[in-house]
Amino acid sequence: MTSHDPESSPRRAARAEAERLATAALALPAAPVEDTPVESAVPTRRERRRETPAPDAARPGRSGVRRLAPVLLRRRLAVVAAAVIVVAGCAVAIGAAASGGEPDAATEAVAQIDGPPPVADDGIPVPQLTAVAATATPCDDPVFTAALASGDDAAVIDAAGGGQAFRAAVASGIAPCVSLSDPNREWLVVNKQRPYDPVDYQPSDLVMPDNVRALEDSALRAPAARALTSLVKAASEAGAGEIGYLSAYRSYTTQKSTYAGRVAIGGVAEADRESARPGFSEHQSGMAVDIVPCNGSCKTLDDVAASPQGAWVREHAWEYGFITRYAEGRESVSGYEPEAWHLRYIGPELARAYHEGGFTTLEEFFGLPAAPTY
Ligand code: DAL
Ligand code: ZN
Repeated sequence: MTSHDPESSPRRAARAEAERLATAALALPAAPVEDTPVESAVPTRRERRRETPAPDAARPGRSGVRRLAPVLLRRRLAVVAAAVIVVAGCAVAIGAAASGGEPDAATEAVAQIDGPPPVADDGIPVPQLTAVAATATPCDDPVFTAALASGDDAAVIDAAGGGQAFRAAVASGIAPCVSLSDPNREWLVVNKQRPYDPVDYQPSDLVMPDNVRALEDSALRAPAARALTSLVKAASEAGAGEIGYLSAYRSYTTQKSTYAGRVAIGGVAEADRESARPGFSEHQSGMAVDIVPCNGSCKTLDDVAASPQGAWVREHAWEYGFITRYAEGRESVSGYEPEAWHLRYIGPELARAYHEGGFTTLEEFFGLPAAPTY
């Protein structure tokens, strides 16, 4: 071998190695060879020369040729088969594209060689993605929060989309910015489980209602006082008779005396069914009033239920923002025996939602637990 021998050229050797690697990339199954290591299914030039019979005595004998021939044949067949598959695959793709996706017989035949799994008649299953909508809360609405901060209860309910929407938001728990414990709000809920905070809370806007007969010097918060004036006027105009009232706002101290008086008469158990302990009465909010029927002179609380005034109030009080807080048969929830005379102001929008929703307790209206006991 001379220094010009092409087989000794580094470039030639590199090219041979590149060919070997490229052929190996076809990943054909290796033909089982008994004693000849198979480096590649495609012989390199060096291999081909080695396998070519030499003209001199060093060439292998016929038996050697016979042993190598099947191996070489299998390698070449494998290469040809691989080429056929590649070409056929390309043809399938081109044919499918040209025919708009409709496979012809040839395409199907090729696909059977190494085709995709069969597709069900109803198509490839598509994963179902369920959109999870973000919970919309009025507490994220700047108009709502601004109204809340302003102290304008009617504007808050309006921003929520009305009384029913406000109730639904609060009852479902998506409006944590609304406190049912805030004694300054019309949606305040006070019961045997929900005392005032502070316990001796006092409203700041108490006024005597205009044109309503007051049997005690007892005021109401301004919106409730205005609403009572309207209610009394409407009842009179409807022919239901005059409505007066006994007690409206009662301070913590006054309620202490009221409750103690009841306990003195009937004991604690009996008192707790009809009178709130101090710090637990709706009267302390300035948004509750005990009405009486008046026909010339005024009668008692116990006369309300059977009076024309009582009947009119049951049907129309909600139109003025009031509800009958302690309804018949709801003691297990409200905590008190029925009181046909005890009206609670919650504002016209909430009272409408209460009436139209058929609610009979404020606890259920706002999704709160029953409060039968302390
Ligand atoms: N009579 C009602 C329950 C009160 O005392 O507040
Ligand atoms: Zn009352």
